[in-house]
Amino acid sequence: MKKLLAIVAMVCLFAAPALAADQIVVGFAQIGAESEWRVANTNSIQSACAEAGFDLRFVDAQQQQQNQIKALRDFITMGVDVIGFAPVVESGWDEVVAEINEAGIPLIIMDRTTDIPGDDYYVTWFGSDFVEEGRRAANWLVEYLKKHGRDGEEISIAELQGTVGSGPQLDRKRGFEEVIANHPNLTITMSQTGDFSADIGRTVMESFLKSGQKIDVLYAHNDDMALGAFQAIKEAGLTPGKDIITIGIDSGRAAVQAVVDGELNVTVECSPLLGPQFVDAVQRIMAGETLPKVTYSIEYVYDLEGILGAKNAVEELPHRQF
Ligand code: AHR
Repeated sequence: MKKLLAIVAMVCLFAAPALAADQIVVGFAQIGAESEWRVANTNSIQSACAEAGFDLRFVDAQQQQQNQIKALRDFITMGVDVIGFAPVVESGWDEVVAEINEAGIPLIIMDRTTDIPGDDYYVTWFGSDFVEEGRRAANWLVEYLKKHGRDGEEISIAELQGTVGSGPQLDRKRGFEEVIANHPNLTITMSQTGDFSADIGRTVMESFLKSGQKIDVLYAHNDDMALGAFQAIKEAGLTPGKDIITIGIDSGRAAVQAVVDGELNVTVECSPLLGPQFVDAVQRIMAGETLPKVTYSIEYVYDLEGILGAKNAVEELPHRQF
């Protein structure tokens, strides 16, 4: 009997996971709450971790890189099992990431990127292809102008950039400029950061309009800034989506509604719903599996005209999850 019990105990020992879900301690350093996207991203991470039963230590860095760095160092001191973070900007992470690596804590990077060379310092990265988003926005514009018989016209573009030095700001600008470089009639005539915030987007758009320069197109690096800018456009007596062609990125419910209302001409999707992927990555790391270094989200474009295969915003609206 004793022998049988010993065998059963051994089988249980080998079959049991190294740690029960509620014993897995995960640290996540979030950027802040600058946009609807970020709020949805936080909700997605928190609810997926709660559902998985993880002990999540979540820090909102309130847009400050030094707060994110401090949170990451605190996670090392706590000895968490896995660390995740979305880097607010690309540079300045070398030291703290080296400390995480020295402590032997697996690192998941999501959404944004760092400029640390190589890919040995993290286990897995997942999120959106920001350069491709910029290209999609510009390609949509080129086709839209063609469809509306304006492809021969000199077009001036006002650009509202995201947080300076962040992956999406650098890459959305790069992708957009790469495409318009082949169309000499398209020029970015004014460009400033709106820090991915609706309020700053509005203020900057006000100053663009007050400059008196012609604005044919607004290219905003996220929808929050575009929707904020709409208020300035309306106060100037103009109609967004008609007097100014408007382009945003993210495709949250409010933006898709704005497309349906005809104020936003197009929104390029960037999904914040990364929580389930984060949980899956943590579980696979804890199980000793090897993960892909890079995974891009599958995303679409929403308008009312089906330009370049864009999906229809009216049909999409009831299905939006953030
Ligand atoms: O990194 C993703 C970007 O960050 C989203 O487009 C923006 O809305 C957010 O603040």
